[in-house]
Amino acid sequence: MNCKRFLTGITPSGTPHLGNYVGSIRPSVQASRRPEVESFYFLADYHALIKVDEPARIQRSTLEIAASWLAAGLDPERVTFYRQSDIPEITELTWLLTCVTSKGLLNRAHAYKAAVDQNTAAQQEPDANVSAGLFMYPVLMAADILMFNAHHVPVGRDQVQHIEMARDIAQRFNHLYGEHFTLPEAAIEENVATLPGLDGRKMSKSYDNHIPLFAPRAQLRKLIAGVLTDSRAPGEPKETEGSALFQIYQAFASAEETAALRQAYADGIGWADAKQLLFERIDREIAPMREHYTALMAAPAQMEQILLAGADKARQLARPFTAELRRAVGLRDLRTSTTATKATKTSKAALPAFKQYRERDGKFYFKLLEPGGRLLLQSAGFDSPQDAAGAMALLREQGAPALGGLKPALQEVAGVSAEDIATALRQLVASE
Ligand code: TRP
Repeated sequence: MNCKRFLTGITPSGTPHLGNYVGSIRPSVQASRRPEVESFYFLADYHALIKVDEPARIQRSTLEIAASWLAAGLDPERVTFYRQSDIPEITELTWLLTCVTSKGLLNRAHAYKAAVDQNTAAQQEPDANVSAGLFMYPVLMAADILMFNAHHVPVGRDQVQHIEMARDIAQRFNHLYGEHFTLPEAAIEENVATLPGLDGRKMSKSYDNHIPLFAPRAQLRKLIAGVLTDSRAPGEPKETEGSALFQIYQAFASAEETAALRQAYADGIGWADAKQLLFERIDREIAPMREHYTALMAAPAQMEQILLAGADKARQLARPFTAELRRAVGLRDLRTSTTATKATKTSKAALPAFKQYRERDGKFYFKLLEPGGRLLLQSAGFDSPQDAAGAMALLREQGAPALGGLKPALQEVAGVSAEDIATALRQLVASE
């Protein structure tokens, strides 16, 4: 219950390469195994539409990236792994957020400003070739993050501004309509290497210097043979500093293996031998995953099913939360009582409620019910009514953060998620 939520999106616009693996896939899969972390990973295919207008490429990339993450060890039972476009609530939230986002905020987004600067430099209209989708990109991204109340968003530096914008948008919404959103923070992995590519510059598709993550063995060997080196002959000592080959090796090797290669450089290892070592080291890590990847790529029906199951899990949270947000902004059932003022407080009629009672065992209990009567929380027996009332008061005042301390006094309720409970408590706290 005191879990931290991590969420990150991957835009399906190409084939994953070793740089993506070292910089994002591998650390994320490792982080997803930490017990105190609840992770959300998704394929940001709505985002892909902003830059890709080849439908087949988006479909192919979605399959490749999903298969890559699973092959690299992501466990879809443990994390929530889904495709953005399977969650229609995200587009709905995008609109709610759009209406509280100032246009000026979006004018300042780096990606948009860069496009305008480029156009201006080329003496074109400032907005030439800028789609409204590109302009709105940060709002869609805010919806991704805020929908699941993520605390931490692991991203590269280029995305930090987007997380800050998501915070601004969340704050604005909370100010207008009550505390609905957690304010997210960017989580930048400081000790994750940026992998150099074949030419020594950062590995990137746009430099055409990348090695596809699951290139077949023969192709992997061939590509590695093309890593840029200097022209020192076998027997001459080599520099590790600035050696792309060395840096790539280091991203895969243990400290001892790296030390051994450093020694081999000093001893004058030939480049062909060094490349063979690099090839073998990478292949040792990748080969088992490659086999898994190939099997997954050959089973698109299975992949589809995994993503749909993930969407199902995600929508268990997205659906009730969207209902809460719709109520908050005034998109409401006409039968509920209307309040003339701004919706800073949820209308009483729609609030969850605590009930206190005494059982035949002589003990005092309480439960928390949704407006519709569904049971959300069930206490254990208290010896006195004051003890039960004290626990309820704590939940009313503090909301979900009080749950941790009260854990021994609560019973499990089947089929109720932590998010359902948190949502109900948030509504109660906001109405105090
Ligand atoms: N914009 C991100 C990128 O290009 C992808 C993305 C979309 C994302 N929605 C997100 C990342 C939400 C983190 C959280 O890398």
